[in-house]
Amino acid sequence: MGAEKSSADVGEGKHEQERKFREALSTEISIGDALLKLLHGDCLDLMSDIPDGSVDLTVTSPPYDNLRTYNNKLVWNWEIFTGIAEQLFRVTKNGGVVVWVVGDATIKGSETGTSFRQALYFKDVGFNLHDTMIYNRYAQFTSNVRYSQDFEYMFIFSKDKPKTINLIQTKCKPHGGNNFKLWNRDSNTIKYRTVKRNKIKPHSNIFKYNRGNNHSTKDKNAYKHPATFPELLAHDHIISWSNEGDTVLDPMMGSGTTGVACLNLNRRFIGIEKDPEYFKIATERIEKKTNGK
Ligand SMILES: C[S@@+](CC[C@H](N)C(=O)[O-])C[C@H]1O[C@@H](n2cnc3c(N)ncnc32)[C@H](O)[C@@H]1O
Repeated sequence: MGAEKSSADVGEGKHEQERKFREALSTEISIGDALLKLLHGDCLDLMSDIPDGSVDLTVTSPPYDNLRTYNNKLVWNWEIFTGIAEQLFRVTKNGGVVVWVVGDATIKGSETGTSFRQALYFKDVGFNLHDTMIYNRYAQFTSNVRYSQDFEYMFIFSKDKPKTINLIQTKCKPHGGNNFKLWNRDSNTIKYRTVKRNKIKPHSNIFKYNRGNNHSTKDKNAYKHPATFPELLAHDHIISWSNEGDTVLDPMMGSGTTGVACLNLNRRFIGIEKDPEYFKIATERIEKKTNGK
């Protein structure tokens, strides 16, 4: 099941890079007719084999500081993060988007601020910070010194302007007219103008999801992974920032949530996971979905 490492040398031609990518994929798991490439290995190695500008959308979530131990095997630090951010910029198409779901640990009484540092680093490598969205979920643990920690960030980075924007719409309440106050600076007078409201408007940038048993996913196997995001979160970003047939990447796919959503939404998917147990969970979960179970 393991993917062989490939050493893409700096300065290699595009064709050589593509050849190496195909070689790496020869160890992939392809499921049915679905275009899903599940790669077991370190995303820093494996992403170097993905051709430049070939990914439309990334929906991913890194380890959050040291909040989870991930089978006590994971090495996660700033150098690894910067390597991943740089690779993401290289593989993303012009107009492509990266959704980075992240939160901070509190260490010695202070939040680390790693999320913000990461967001600024994404800007340094060339991404636009298109939006800072909130994933609103109920906290699992409460504290006596802080308000309930009910959200994580969902940073939306784009390489230039996003080429695909399909904003989820919600109903406006009420539907009737609304008085807008208009101030005329020269005459220092105020007028009122009635503007008819639309029936729908784009959703707020706070997405609320129930999580935990049977909410994040119906697949019980996925809960063996300690830090999944809800299937609906992946679904909502995939429909917002990509079209059918587009290529979606999750370089740290954990239990494969982004892959499952891609399968439901007819997107191509490249998923990479380093930990063999989580990789197994992801493959089983996606295989089960492919077989309609
Ligand atoms: C927050 S979890 C992702 C969970 C995923 N979004 C889901 O819904 O299941 C982060 C994952 O990144 C994986 N990971 C960390 N470093 C990695 C690396 N260098 N290459 C590939 N995977 C890595 C961890 O093993 C872990 O499963």
